Amino acid sequence: MESGFYSNDMEKIVESDRAHVWHHLTPHKKFETTDPLIIVEGKGIHVWDAKGKRYLDAVSGGVWTVNVGYGRTEIADAVRDQLVKLNYFAGSAGSIPGSLFVEKLLEKMPGMSRVYFSNSGSEANEKVYKMVRQIAHKKTGGKKHKILFRDRDYHGTTITTLSTSGQPQRAAQYGPLTPGFVEVPHCLEYRNQYPDAENYGIAAADAIEQVILREGPETVGAIVLEPVTAGGGVIPPPEGYWPRVQEICRKYDILLHIDEVVCGVGRTGKWFGYQHYGIEPDFVTMAKGVASGYAAISCTVTTERVFDMFKADPNDPMDYFRDISTFGGCTAGPAAALANIEIIERENLLENVNRMGDYLMERLHALMAKHQVIGDVRGKGLFCGAELVSDRTTKEPMPEAKVQAVVADCMANGVIIGATNRSLNGMNNTLCLSPALIVTKENIDEIVTAIDNALERVFG
Ligand SMILES: Cc1ncc(COP(=O)(O)O)c(C=O)c1O
Repeated sequence: MESGFYSNDMEKIVESDRAHVWHHLTPHKKFETTDPLIIVEGKGIHVWDAKGKRYLDAVSGGVWTVNVGYGRTEIADAVRDQLVKLNYFAGSAGSIPGSLFVEKLLEKMPGMSRVYFSNSGSEANEKVYKMVRQIAHKKTGGKKHKILFRDRDYHGTTITTLSTSGQPQRAAQYGPLTPGFVEVPHCLEYRNQYPDAENYGIAAADAIEQVILREGPETVGAIVLEPVTAGGGVIPPPEGYWPRVQEICRKYDILLHIDEVVCGVGRTGKWFGYQHYGIEPDFVTMAKGVASGYAAISCTVTTERVFDMFKADPNDPMDYFRDISTFGGCTAGPAAALANIEIIERENLLENVNRMGDYLMERLHALMAKHQVIGDVRGKGLFCGAELVSDRTTKEPMPEAKVQAVVADCMANGVIIGATNRSLNGMNNTLCLSPALIVTKENIDEIVTAIDNALERVFG
């Protein structure tokens, strides 16, 4: 017996949860009349709730994390073996799983050479912001300290990462935010801000240059961008966008930070999203899929050129990155991450992502032909979105409540899908799909059928 009741006494578990657990990202009023969802078990692509109901999880743990699927005993074994040998020592020292994992990771990231461990995507991103600020102090007396972020992108939940949120509803009511962060326009062609431009991708990138010129290039140190915007509406970059962004960064000596927290480690069909677009980043951050949620680990990866800036003056006692993440020293993280990458390699999961991603897009396009409420379908690999509109001609966004009704209908019928939620003012209208990289054709058929039926029921 634990805590006064047995762990298989589901009624008590639910009661205790309702009484004491503060769920993430959840309005709680509804739990006065309904039971909170409690997930108790997972296997492959399926999870079971406290009532024994089975769901096909089309969002990899709700927030695009469990990339290799549930119930991977080899990751659990690797973590257990490591914990018994050495569970923790501060990251000021190295570790065996740390060395083995970075060796494997950097094999997949030509041009990158240093890995800083921490625990969450927010933290990994904030490490970069600190590095950029420190570089600015060392090289320009603090002048080149501003960091650009993009409308619709998301980089984390701390006050400072929220200060780089292109999703205003996430940051609302949490101000005052941290100064020194400046927004650039989004690059979603479906919501084209430059209808007269010959090439949308170039125009969207040029809009970044305009912000740099307005702020003064001598004040801008870095830009943080998702390779494919995830929670902001699933936005793959338009043609021509990335080469121009890279060119602009080089022109003004601006460090390029790619946030791979969602796209990293296979989600888009390559090891990293940026590798689709020939980008040479200065920083890459990753978290969710790094260990598929079997342990908390995030990585801030950079180049030797950047790393060298933190050891340029041996006589200066402040000339190094003076940062620590206590739990960045947990050895379970790299042990799980190594086993996770080995599974992706051994099972050729990148190939599956590409094949199944194509199939999912094909099925979503067929759904769009059938349902007028789908205004746009887009994605990369196994991250796909369907934007719902109440009018295809005007592209009037579908109200969030209706979009959530579609999500709820799928859930009631045993399929968990996602949707942009409380992120963008008036624009939380994109259904999101990000099944585990092991997804099969049959799973995709089941997901699409659930959405098809839900659209039928909600919109007639
Ligand atoms: C692109 C992106 N960056 C960063 C984060 C923050 O990660 P975490 O929740 O692990 O702090 C998220 C979380 O959803 C994300 O989608």
